[in-house]
Amino acid sequence: MCGIIAYVGDKPCAQLLIDGLRKLEYRGYDSAGVAVHDGTQLVVRRAAGKLQSLQDLLIAEPIAGTTGIGHTRWATHGPPSERNAHPHVSGRVAVVHNGIIENHVELKQELEAKGRVFASDTDTEIVAHLVELALGTGASLLEAVRQTLRQLRGAYAIAVLSREDPEKIIVARHASPLVLALADGAVLAASDVPAILAHTREVLFLEDNELAVLSRDGAHIETVDGVKVERAATTIRWSLVQAERGGYKHFMLKEIHEQPRAIEDTLRGRIQLEHARCVADELGVPETTAKAIRRVVLLACGTSFHAAMYGRYLIESIAKIPAVVDLASEFRYRDPVICEGDLVIAVSQSGETADTLAALKEAQRQGANVLGVVNVQGSAIARISNGVLYTHAGPEIGVASTKCFTAQLAAMALVAIHLGRTRGSLSEERASVLIHELVKIPEKMRAALEQDAHIQQIARDLVSSHNALFLGRGVSCPVALEGALKLKEISYVHAEGYAGGEMKHGPLALVDKSLPVVCLLPDDPTLEKMLSNVQEVRARDGQVLAIVNDENTAKSLAKWTIVVPKTEPELSPLITTIPMQLLSYHVADQRGTDVDQPRNLAKTVTVE
Ligand code: F6R
Repeated sequence: MCGIIAYVGDKPCAQLLIDGLRKLEYRGYDSAGVAVHDGTQLVVRRAAGKLQSLQDLLIAEPIAGTTGIGHTRWATHGPPSERNAHPHVSGRVAVVHNGIIENHVELKQELEAKGRVFASDTDTEIVAHLVELALGTGASLLEAVRQTLRQLRGAYAIAVLSREDPEKIIVARHASPLVLALADGAVLAASDVPAILAHTREVLFLEDNELAVLSRDGAHIETVDGVKVERAATTIRWSLVQAERGGYKHFMLKEIHEQPRAIEDTLRGRIQLEHARCVADELGVPETTAKAIRRVVLLACGTSFHAAMYGRYLIESIAKIPAVVDLASEFRYRDPVICEGDLVIAVSQSGETADTLAALKEAQRQGANVLGVVNVQGSAIARISNGVLYTHAGPEIGVASTKCFTAQLAAMALVAIHLGRTRGSLSEERASVLIHELVKIPEKMRAALEQDAHIQQIARDLVSSHNALFLGRGVSCPVALEGALKLKEISYVHAEGYAGGEMKHGPLALVDKSLPVVCLLPDDPTLEKMLSNVQEVRARDGQVLAIVNDENTAKSLAKWTIVVPKTEPELSPLITTIPMQLLSYHVADQRGTDVDQPRNLAKTVTVE
């Protein structure tokens, strides 16, 4: 997730911008840059990699000036590099941006048709060109930004600096955070509170479709349509560390709560509601490839493996293509057979997992066409895959994957719908239902997240359990496995995930009155069978925690019940995963483990 800082004031600002960006480092980034008005012109310095590279550049080539913008970039469009680092410049305008411009392809084509030449692969550069073009028609900077914003679809927080206005910065937001700070002799804006805490604790939060003109006189806020906005300042009482976590106790909890946004960003620009289709160009599988597929082979490790299991289910049920899923860590130690017409999908949050990378190379060696589903731009898997579908979950800091997992689930749904529609195996009517429901998932996730306090309460009863069992059938089976993995990795409680149908084949022997059994019971065709499993557990005094859509579903059987919103059966894992994550989190927190950095685990597993 990119970080923005902007400063208009009476102090030299280049170093001050870097200091602010340092406070946003926790958000994750791969390059950084600043643009400062030196009284005559805009001077831009950018560097790939860590902020120290930018700092070294500024020491070698300092810039004077008291108005400037700065940025740390987490790549979404175009790999991490100096040329893709922000600020992006067009003529007299420099822009930094956080978010995703959904209609960037159309806008870029229009701009190129007008003779604009692009210097980067980013969607952001479009904004700089649009503002510059509007200024060329005689518009003021404010009017030029307004005209530009009216053309953008998607999510953005931007800061715009113009050579013609040495003491003014325009900032705007839609679906990406931006906070303003009124300090002594200066006004600042930033994408998050930590960047401005060194200057003041009095802040104003910009809302969607608002922009602000920052000058030494203060911040003038108005809507994109020009209606003046009066906003009272809020006093921030968080410590710096609390502010980095957005007020949450751990990054993991923050990331759990960021999931509705992660899904919105992963879906953004990738579906055409009116045609009940996905946008092929965005998904890394061209239509000709989609039509030629005979089998899909999904490869992944850990949590990503559970997303791949879900992918197999959807690819079979929605796209009607035979699909298999394999642990990437095992793949090359068998004698895997790749056939003509195989599409291999490598699922990896980091894009760097050694086992997944090796498996995908083996598949490619045998001639497979590989789609990488990854969260990190420019990562090894993204680089070597034949096509890439990025999950736009933003950087994940907690070692236990949460928002990247649900973003992978959303990506799997997009792929399955795309393949089904392209091959004619999914009707327009059913696709329309699924796609409309997919768009509602973030709202339903928000409702599921409201169960947080209730789940924290349940966790109190479970905190001293030594074991736990998670059960699900069909599409909920990967969720059960993921629930067990989450619990064991952060709380160190031994947990097993099983397909409900396997109970009689062994795990039932574990059940006694000391065993909590988490049962996934969304309203879907497996519900009746799952209820039989619940009966089996109850008959042996097992303690049932039921995840349901209707509070009456397992009322007489369950000791604890968590009700989450209903969705289409195929999409329920996007919702039922949330109580699993919250439960693990609260059990771990109450047991006092290091939630964000569980023992013995690393975020990116680059060794076998
Ligand atoms: C668990 C977790 C791991 C990863 C696994 C693969 O919470 O995050 O199981 O899923 O190490 O990592 P990626 O997705 O980066 O390939």
